[in-house]
Formats: sequence, structure tokens, C-alpha cells
Amino acid sequence: MSSGKLSKWDVVVVGAGPAGYVAAIRCAQLGLKTLCVDEWRDHNGDSSLGGTCLNVGCIPSKALLESSHLYHQAQEELEQHGITLSSVALNVETMQARKNKVVQDLTQGVQTLLDVNNVEVIHGRAKITAIDTIVISSRQTRKKINKVKTKNIIIATGSSPVRLQQVKLENEYILDSAAALEMNEVPKRLGIIGAGAIGLELGSVWSRLGSEVILLEAMQGFLAMADSKIAALAKRSFTKQSLDIRLNARLISAEVENNKVQVLYEDKNGEHKEVFDKLIIAIGRKPNSDRIFGEELGIERDERCYILVNKKCQTSVPNIYAIGDVVGGPMLAHKASEEGIMVAEHIAGNHAEVDYNLIPSVIYTQPEIAWVGKTEQECKNAGIKINVGSFPFVASGRARAMAQTEGLVKIIADAETDVVLGVHIFSTQASELISQAVLMMEMQATAEDMALTVFAHPTLSEALHEAALSVHGRAIHVKN
Ligand code: NAI
Repeated sequence: MSSGKLSKWDVVVVGAGPAGYVAAIRCAQLGLKTLCVDEWRDHNGDSSLGGTCLNVGCIPSKALLESSHLYHQAQEELEQHGITLSSVALNVETMQARKNKVVQDLTQGVQTLLDVNNVEVIHGRAKITAIDTIVISSRQTRKKINKVKTKNIIIATGSSPVRLQQVKLENEYILDSAAALEMNEVPKRLGIIGAGAIGLELGSVWSRLGSEVILLEAMQGFLAMADSKIAALAKRSFTKQSLDIRLNARLISAEVENNKVQVLYEDKNGEHKEVFDKLIIAIGRKPNSDRIFGEELGIERDERCYILVNKKCQTSVPNIYAIGDVVGGPMLAHKASEEGIMVAEHIAGNHAEVDYNLIPSVIYTQPEIAWVGKTEQECKNAGIKINVGSFPFVASGRARAMAQTEGLVKIIADAETDVVLGVHIFSTQASELISQAVLMMEMQATAEDMALTVFAHPTLSEALHEAALSVHGRAIHVKN
């Protein structure tokens, strides 16, 4: 592309994570001339598409969760199947190399998808200098690479880990979630600040590989956003798996001394000191909304720097949209992608919307936690009368055959209409099972609809069927 004459686009998408690249592909499919600008560089300094999710989030963490789960199974679970291994050895470098290959293949796959859809890609940092103008500069040299004109802009710049004011990240010792995916040896004692999704997933990986893991969580309750019954079950299970979760723990300081991290924290019993080989900070993420536009454009942000948007993800400037982690709501890749598709359709003049009540949440521990819709406590707080059914996997033939009997399915239905309001699962493969519930709820199914549906036997999915039957006291394989 020549930098002399200004190129003109229908849409410029800033950011190529699951929000941005999906938006760009859909825009191009709809016949819009689309440019995608992204500044991501991997640890080798090479440009890479896919954003946090593909490079340092969902995908690499799932690769390591899978590998560490297999290691754990080889050590602890195969014997009951009559499989004895004379020795099990761990090679973290090979594990990391496999993870890196998965990431590389998928990020290159995004490039291919953009290419085949005729989306032009420029690697660099975009700044919106006017409502129809974007200047692109090199991330390293800060020199201007290009200036483009566009009818529409989609901001999809994602989020970054929140830093703790009193703690400085230190190479090797005090890590954010991205660095915590790169460790090439198993730390003996691993501290994690924050027992949210990232803390629990990374804690699971390194605990299965042999670390003693202590999670310090500021909140009094565990996984406050999940259904309280599921959260209580999960906490018991993780504690049994040797994840030491300390609630109500407020970090005072963390400093590196003698190649160890000295941590001082406080709970209701006073101050405590812990010494770790590594410390991971996983206390949430914040929107990347600082450097993309100047105040003069009039794009409004809230007090936490999320870009303010309407239901169509339109900012206060009508031809500028924002999607994904940079706007409010759950910081989830699938929510971001759906917003990308909605905005592309809107720009093309079509009608589309996202149903924010039906975004599934998953935490990829083992067992996994997955839910969609309302929790029991949310229904009670909203004064909604409900019927609740549940089914434990210990009563599932398939779960027994798999030796994966921990957990349950819980279904919440409106007492008056019987419409399913929420489904909560703690089980192996809960991340897969939950999609059935999302689909049912998307169709506004009642518990009775689910109860009348035929599920294959023997499957884990039957637990959903039985839980639906149990809403009306008709479960077959447990006492109601
Ligand atoms: P999070 O918000 O899920 O959890 C952070 C935890 O840290 C909270 O429980 C919070 O109470 C605690 N915390 C905050 N300040 C603290 C302090 N000073 N000391 C101790 N604890 C403190 O955020 P997380 O785990 O960092 O994940 C970031 C985002 O990425 C989330 O929005 C999450 O939804 C998303 N994500 C989603 C995943 C999934 O869907 N499986 C996996 C990983 C991340």
C-alpha cells in the first residue's frame, strides 16, 4: 500500500483479537472494504494476530491445562483402569514447545483467514486522529507508517492485566498472567494473588505439575459471580486437590530478596508472611483505551476507562464502534466475537443484536465450572419465584464409566412459566455441556421442554435431562 496517497476504507478495525479479527472477517464477507490494524508482537518480537486470547490467554492456557491434566492422570488416575506406568517423567520445555506450536498455528490461521477474506492487515499502532482518519505508526520506532481514511472505525483493542500499585513485576519472580504461561520449570512454592478465572486456571496447571500453590484472594466469598452451591462444591474440590485458597487476604507487599518472593499479607487474624519461588498477579484486567484517540474526538469513557457504547456497540461518535474487553461486560472471547459480528452487520445495514443474558461463563479447572443465565441468589434478590432441579454425576452411568463422578448439574426454572433461567454445571467437560443449555435457553425452552427431549445414553449430557426432570420431581436415577 502506498503511503503517498491516502487509502480509503469502508471499515478500519483496530485490534485483531477475537473481537477485531471476527469483526473484520464479517465486514469483508458483507462486501465492505476492510483494513485491520494490530500492534501485537510475540516474545520473539514478531508480529502476531489473535490478541490476548490466542497469544497469551485462552489458547495457551488451555494447551497447558490439557498437558498438565494428562500428567496428573498418568500419575494418579490410570492405576484404577489397570494401567500401571513404571515411571512418569515431565519435560516442561517440550510441554511449552507444544503450547507455542498450538499458538503459532492458530495465529497464522487468523492471518490466513484474513487473507482469504480480502481483509488488508497492517502491523502497527493505530491512533484515531479524526473521526475518519487513522494514523499508523511502528510500535518500536514510533515512526509513522501510514495514514488512512475510513467511513467506519471499530475499536477492538482489548485489555491488559491490572497491576498492583505496591508490587513491581520482576522478570522471573513476580509475573503477570502472560509471563506465568512461559515458565520453563516448576516452581516449588507458587503464590497467586487473586482466585478468579486466571488464578484458578494457572494454579491448576502448576499444582498438577508439582508446585505447592497458595492463592491469596481479597474477597471474603469464593467465586462470587458463580452460583453459590457450585462455588462451594468447587472450593471443596480444589482444596482437596491441594490448592490452598486463602480468602479475605489483602496483600501488603511483595518483594524479591535472595531469589525468593517475600509476601506480606493480612487477614482477619492479622499479618502473615509467605515465601514463594514465584508470584503471579491475577487480579483482573483493564481496558486498553488510553492511547487510541484524543479527548477532542468526544469518544466517551466511564470512570474505569471502559469506552461507553450503546446496545449496538456504537460510541458517542456514531461511525466509531467499540467491542470486546475495551467496553464493559464480561471479558470473554466469545462475547467479544459476537459483538464483532453484530457491529459488522449493523455497518452493512442489517439488524443484529447480542443477548447478553445468554453469554456462557467457563472456568477450565478440573472439574470445570460452567454456567449460563441467572444464579439462584440473583433470582432470589430479584424476587423471582423459582423451581430448582439438580442431578449429581455420581448417578450418571457414563461418568462412572469414565471415573469422573464429581459434580452436578443444577437447573433453575421460573416457578410460574417454567422457562429455564439458569443452568450451572460443575463437572468434567462442563465447558462442552453448557452449550446445550445455552441453545435451549436461546430457544426459551422450559424445564419441561428439556425433560421431554431425548438424550443419548450413556452420555454426560443425560445429567442435563435428569436435572430438568428433577425440576418437577421426576428424575429417574436419583431420589427426588
Ligand atoms: P477476575 O476478575 O476473574 O479475578 C480476579 C480476582 O482477584 C478476584 O477474585 C478479585 O477479588 C481478586 N483480587 C483483586 N484485587 C486483589 C488483591 N489486591 N489481592 C487479592 N485478590 C485480589 O480476573 P482474572 O482472573 O485476572 O481474569 C481477568 C479476566 O479475564 C476476567 O474478566 C476473566 O473473565 C477473563 N478470563 C476468563 C477466563 C475464562 O473464561 N475461562 C480465563 C481467564 C481469564
